[in-house]
Amino acid sequence: MTEADTKKLKRAKSIKFGDMKLAQCEEVRNLILDAVKSENRNVTNEGRIAFERYISAVAIENRARMGFKFELAILDARIVGVIEIREVDRISMLYVHPDYTRLGIGSRLVFRAASRCAASKLMTYAADEDIGFYERVGFVRCGDRSVVLGIPSTPYKLSMSPRDKKPPSKLRSSSVALFVFSGTGNTLLVAREVGRALRDEGRDVHLYDMKAENGEILTKLDDDAAVGLAFPVACFSTYPAVWRFVESMPFGHGREVFALSTCGGFSGGMQGALGEVLSKKGYRLLSAKFFIMPGNYGNKAIPAEKNAHRVEKALQDSRAFVSDILAGTASWGGYPWGARFTHWLAQTRTPWNFFYRMFPILTDKTKCTRCYLCERICPAYAITKDGDGYPFVEPRVCESCQRCVGFCPSSALGNPKKPAVQYRAMDYDEFKITESKNR
Ligand SMILES: Cc1cc2nc3c(=O)[nH]c(=O)nc-3n(C[C@H](O)[C@H](O)[C@H](O)COP(=O)(O)O)c2cc1C
Ligand code: SF4
Ligand code: SF4
Repeated sequence: MTEADTKKLKRAKSIKFGDMKLAQCEEVRNLILDAVKSENRNVTNEGRIAFERYISAVAIENRARMGFKFELAILDARIVGVIEIREVDRISMLYVHPDYTRLGIGSRLVFRAASRCAASKLMTYAADEDIGFYERVGFVRCGDRSVVLGIPSTPYKLSMSPRDKKPPSKLRSSSVALFVFSGTGNTLLVAREVGRALRDEGRDVHLYDMKAENGEILTKLDDDAAVGLAFPVACFSTYPAVWRFVESMPFGHGREVFALSTCGGFSGGMQGALGEVLSKKGYRLLSAKFFIMPGNYGNKAIPAEKNAHRVEKALQDSRAFVSDILAGTASWGGYPWGARFTHWLAQTRTPWNFFYRMFPILTDKTKCTRCYLCERICPAYAITKDGDGYPFVEPRVCESCQRCVGFCPSSALGNPKKPAVQYRAMDYDEFKITESKNR
């Protein structure tokens, strides 16, 4: 990343967004006049008069009073961008000051508007010189070009239904908060590699433990920061602990989000359901990617060579994934109908009770040293103590993430009727999810 790019990212980071106040109408008008100065339009005299009337401070104030929504981008206490939304789903004005273009202000204003829009689409009539911009942020042409009073425009639409395929878009944010859930360490390995690759590209990256309580961190992030979600596939969906976190996430206001997930081979298309929840919460979907990693339960023997190969490939793919999200060549993926069903099912106890019946977790008291590490690290608070002080896994609370089984220092947890080799991707002292940016 060049020094100029770094400076630009820093500048983009300090932009603040907020609703327009009536006292700011005059300043908004001046911004629009500065923005259109650089445009070369063959507008008729009538068209010019109509436009000047439309952008007068009085007209803006009247429309704001009538319920039109105006959102501003502010940098160094100066208004540098404005978007106006009318009739719930129509962009009727979008201007960025010419000194502040190429900082991502226009696209952020669009996605903030999209995140607040009650309709499933956002419409605009794009001037010829703005068509490239609208297509880049994902709008699709939906009608014929026409010219009124010398002002040409073409109707464009941004669909916000997760079922509609959207063109991929680039990661613009200069910082990333990566929230990680990992049972046995596979996902943490991949998330760390993605974090390293993003830092190599000049992004500021922090890893956080994905617990519902940590959803609050999101309310304190810079407007500009993107969110990454890293979690394992479980029962063709993911663990209730992950869904609890996703549900705790605050409204996104167009915040960028990407997801990376590890699995043993088949995701069940669960990214569709995740994308739907995140879209409804106002997040802007960049990409969801699945990485095949070693199986982490019921191994009769650990296939060391096969596992090493899977890990090596997943780490290489992690770097490629980062290149793709930076280049805007990665997409979120389709929407298989089954994903809604597995999303619903994963929030019931049915799959987890079934899995636990197949792979119960019992304590071998001849091995257990009562160190209680298992109790401390269980994300579902499913481990209590029995009458003798040995850990007891509550079958109706356990989410089968295998963390306790994988990290027990005495290999004391498992199913005596189906003995399996303990699996973990790393030793426990390396299993620290929350990390500073330089690790
Ligand atoms: C309860 C449970 C259910 C799983 N379900 C699936 C699945 O549906 N599809 C799949 O490909 N892998 C499945 N796996 C394998 C894990 O997704 C895979 O090993 C993952 O990399 C584990 O990541 P972690 O070590 O970060 O927990 C499952 C593992 C567990 C423990
Ligand atoms: S981590 Fe293992 S040794 Fe420690 S209390 Fe749990 S079962 Fe026992
Ligand atoms: S008891 Fe073990 S397998 Fe079950 S949720 Fe807790 S850590 Fe995961």
